[in-house]
Amino acid sequence: MPKSRTRFVCQQCGGEQTKWLGRCPDCGAWNTLEEVSLPETSAAAPAPQRRYALLTGAAATAGASAAPTVPQPLSQVKALSHERLSVGYAEMDRVLGGGLVPGSLTLVGGEPGIGKSTLLLQVSGSIAERVGPVLYVSGEESSEQIKMRAERLEISGERLYLLATVELEVICEAIARLKPALVVVDSIQTVFATHLTSAPGSISQVRECTLHLMQVAKSSHIPMFIIGHVTKEGTVAGPKALEHIADCVLYLEGERYHTYRLLRGVKNRFGATHEVGVFEMHGEGLQEVPNPSALFLSEHPGAASGSAVVVSMEGTRPLLVEVQALVTPSNFGIARCTANGIEHNRLLMLLAVLTKRVGLALGNHDVYTNVVGGFTLEEPAVDLGVAAAIASSYRDRRIPPDLALIGEVGLSGELRPVSRLGLRVREAAKLGFKRCLVPASGRTERVRRELEGAGLAEECRVIPASTLAVALEIALH
Ligand code: TYD
Ligand code: MG
Repeated sequence: MPKSRTRFVCQQCGGEQTKWLGRCPDCGAWNTLEEVSLPETSAAAPAPQRRYALLTGAAATAGASAAPTVPQPLSQVKALSHERLSVGYAEMDRVLGGGLVPGSLTLVGGEPGIGKSTLLLQVSGSIAERVGPVLYVSGEESSEQIKMRAERLEISGERLYLLATVELEVICEAIARLKPALVVVDSIQTVFATHLTSAPGSISQVRECTLHLMQVAKSSHIPMFIIGHVTKEGTVAGPKALEHIADCVLYLEGERYHTYRLLRGVKNRFGATHEVGVFEMHGEGLQEVPNPSALFLSEHPGAASGSAVVVSMEGTRPLLVEVQALVTPSNFGIARCTANGIEHNRLLMLLAVLTKRVGLALGNHDVYTNVVGGFTLEEPAVDLGVAAAIASSYRDRRIPPDLALIGEVGLSGELRPVSRLGLRVREAAKLGFKRCLVPASGRTERVRRELEGAGLAEECRVIPASTLAVALEIALH
């Protein structure tokens, strides 16, 4: 006689316990454990096989081969075809590592209202037009609502099939019948499997449905996009708990009051992570911004003090961004320090180095820093630019607008070499910067030669500096 089992699953981290506890021992959250009854099992049908059996209908008709259950020598495993499917947007293709891999499951996360449905509807429209049928499953909007949006985005889509459902079984059936070139599930929080008792959107439903869809994708070689909502805290049963299942995890980010949207790759089994694609939200949907540096710097007046241009690597692409600082005497004895777009601790360290090694009396000043365009800069290579912006505001001397600053600052006030210096300098030269302040190292000569090779040596000069103090002398002289 098969026995039905229950488990207590944390709604925050997905950890499973055998008994109810007030506090989840895995993540420490209070009152998040919920009872979930697992489907009945018997010795003859252990859990993974049962899941597979559920799938076979969908997978077999989709022309898939069953996954082998015995170990296979690596040499006999058939390699996936290297053909990648372009999503129709070069910015997104780059974040995906060169396009979609057949049978991959990509999770697209982001706050509600940021533009996830818009982006994936545009991608669906593009693939339906160029490649083949696309199945767009929506549990949030009716087909009529999606139609309205599609009209606004000017997607006609003969081969774009809409399905407004929340049932996993219905979705799998539709995939098996249609054999589409792409499946989009909007959003995973609305999908539920009827054999599970927990509510849609709960962690066990979300996880189970994702695993199930993953197997469908893998066995039928159909690429899939799954949309997941995250709240500001990332606490809702959502993308955070699914990151380890999906092949790729992309986050669509942006400030509510900026029109820019950044598509950031945080996990990619088929390419580099930390790639960033830049889009802009218009009345007619999202449009690519192929050269974001030029766009952001077009608003760079370069006239005021406290502004510096840094070159940050976002994945494989260098990005030129303006950093601003404002240093004012502090009124209440306690100096304030606000970092926008830069890590707070990094800013404190730079302030300490500027005080101790360069001799700026910043102790009784408020310091505000900001990265223009809503970007977050995480790389140490932007240290020099941030420090120079602060020094520029403090001394009220402007940094020449044709100077780009690159370099990491060490605790003894030295400038440390950064990765991909040549690429950064070339990008700055291409955008019309006449001079680049870089850390002095053996690499400077090589970078100069690279510039010469690219025919940019005339336009841009590389100025090496060994310490922050020397660099500031040059930038603010
Ligand atoms: P949506 O894709 O519905 O967000 P999500 O799926 O992430 O919740 O996008 C919603 C926002 O995008 C909404 O505030 C309106 C805006 N928007 C435009 O500005 N232009 C457009 O063409 C579209 C379709 C949406
Ligand atoms: Mg949506």
